[in-house]
Amino acid sequence: MEKRKELEFIYRRRSVRKFLETPVPDEIVNMLIDAAIHAPSGKNAQNWHFVVVRNRQMIADMATLVEKKHEILLPFIADEQKKNDFKKSVAYHTVFRNAPAVVLVFAGPYPVPADDMVPGSGLTQSEIESLRQAKPGIQNVAAALQNLHLAAAALGYGTCWMTGPNYAGREIAQMVGFQKEGYVMAALTPLGIPAGGGGSPARKPLTEILTVVD
Ligand SMILES: Cc1cc2nc3c(=O)[nH]c(=O)nc-3n(C[C@H](O)[C@H](O)[C@H](O)COP(=O)(O)O)c2cc1C
Repeated sequence: MEKRKELEFIYRRRSVRKFLETPVPDEIVNMLIDAAIHAPSGKNAQNWHFVVVRNRQMIADMATLVEKKHEILLPFIADEQKKNDFKKSVAYHTVFRNAPAVVLVFAGPYPVPADDMVPGSGLTQSEIESLRQAKPGIQNVAAALQNLHLAAAALGYGTCWMTGPNYAGREIAQMVGFQKEGYVMAALTPLGIPAGGGGSPARKPLTEILTVVD
């Protein structure tokens, strides 16, 4: 399919997992976070918070923290195949280790009508849970994060959306000293100048993922 020139900013983004040592200046950090917060959010709730870590030792320590938590969690997976998959995934959860900056993205509370529905008063707990499934609060944060990724790519910076390290989210928040009532780590991204090229993996064809109803 022909790629439109006007959409170059979309196709430029790819997941970057290797970075140059070049530090990320304040100006870039501020531009990226400003781009992020111009995302739409339900009720304009802006239920996000960003922590930018540029302390290289702390970034390495965060990766070690993820490895330690991974080791703690591993024995709790009973299925051998799944355990093996999780074991291998730790490399994929620590690719931020050598980045000059890491952006931690926290998601705050976002009330939904399901919160006000009383189980037993006509609706079952599972019906109430199904009303929560689309998670608009997380959609707000994802919109902001996607803005950040696209803006970074447009400015020549590399990022990688990562939720793998989330199982160590509480420990990471504690390490960087971030505390805000009801906020949890939703994702993180390394940030820096890409070291080398590389492309995105292939996408499913539109015939598989698009339904048009006329
Ligand atoms: C919600 C989400 C979580 C992801 N988690 C990780 C991760 O933990 N580690 C990683 O290396 N990549 C992670 N990725 C990156 C994907 O592997 C990547 O986006 C996908 O393979 C498509 O490649 P591209 O981003 O280069 O287009 C994640 C992406 C998303 C959207």
